[in-house]
Amino acid sequence: MESISIGLLGLGTVGSGVVKIVENHQDKLTHQIGCPVKVRKALVQELEKERDLKLGREVLTTDPAEVLNDPEIDIIVEVMGGIEATKEHLLSALKQRKHVVTANKDLMALHGPELLKTASENGCDLFYEASVAGGIPILRSLVDGLSSDRITKMMGIVNGTTNFILTKMTKEGSNFEEVLKEAQDLGYAEADPTADVGGLDAARKMAILSTLGFSMNVDLADVKVKGITGVTGEDIQYAEQFDYAMKLIGYAHRDGEKVEVSVEPTLLQKEHPLASVNDEYNAVYVYGEAVGETMFYGPGAGSLPTATAVVSDMVGIMKNMRLGVNGKSAVHPQFTKKLKESSE
Ligand code: NDP
Ligand code: HSE
Repeated sequence: MESISIGLLGLGTVGSGVVKIVENHQDKLTHQIGCPVKVRKALVQELEKERDLKLGREVLTTDPAEVLNDPEIDIIVEVMGGIEATKEHLLSALKQRKHVVTANKDLMALHGPELLKTASENGCDLFYEASVAGGIPILRSLVDGLSSDRITKMMGIVNGTTNFILTKMTKEGSNFEEVLKEAQDLGYAEADPTADVGGLDAARKMAILSTLGFSMNVDLADVKVKGITGVTGEDIQYAEQFDYAMKLIGYAHRDGEKVEVSVEPTLLQKEHPLASVNDEYNAVYVYGEAVGETMFYGPGAGSLPTATAVVSDMVGIMKNMRLGVNGKSAVHPQFTKKLKESSE
């Protein structure tokens, strides 16, 4: 192959990070995959928007078909967000035998099984490492590094925006609305931050984590969700007085075929390892019967950390292309066994 061409759907916080990593780490990418990587097209909403990128203006388009149907494009990188229309774009790409990388947990938590099935039927890879915990390679760790173990418990801070808000409210006495605005300006929050503060973003991530960690299909509808909108500065200061930290915690527990998954504001004793995870950082505690306790920590949101996960997925696909094993990878498998069926 002379080069590998990428089509981006979205060029915002994460998409611009992807372009920067492809530009700045081109030597390393070329060395790993044996040829250069090029961004050939990028779908945006506003062509005239100011963008601090070296991409030529001719690369941008507002027509999804120009990206999805371009025969030169090998990999579609979806970093635009959205659910139903985005799903149709990705199904169309997979049916044209283009590999897909997505950072979209909204989409994967709802339609992951259908998309993964379509990918497999078309001999394509569909990787989504960035969808959970930004720059932390937690999905690969669950399905690859811990593949031999039986995981029974996971606990995590998996939303950067709410952790940033709770940290600032605790340490600086900041006002909820002001610090949410700051998280939006820093690119941590979703376009509509209701899912962040309402706990749904974390619930989507916990559905993905427990599906992969417990090797069974855990539906988003089965995750109990409570966000941080009811948490006040007084609650936090009161907890502080008794040496507790307020955190939005995702919890997943498996007992045989019974699985419980929830997200809710939780008071943690200060010596708890998750109590010292601050700002936009995330951490996931994983307990496996053989390995015991493990903990994964890192930036959970933001441009370059998230883009690192996206570009690493691209590298995984490109390595598979060289070996001719796309669609057969053990990384990010599909689980068709449903929770309810498994307990029957
Ligand atoms: P942004 O809002 O910053 O960027 C979205 C991009 O998509 C923009 O370039 C926008 O165009 C383009 N876009 C959106 N809708 C359309 C549309 N209908 N047609 C054409 N172009 C469109 O989002 P993020 O980069 O923050 O997030 C992207 C995805 O990554 C989301 O799924 C998010 O959940 C996920 N994610 C985000 C993280 C983060 O830290 N921000 C971390 C992990 C995952 P234009 O530039 O013209 O406005
Ligand atoms: N809005 C998300 C968060 C982005 O704050 O964690 C990363 O998925």
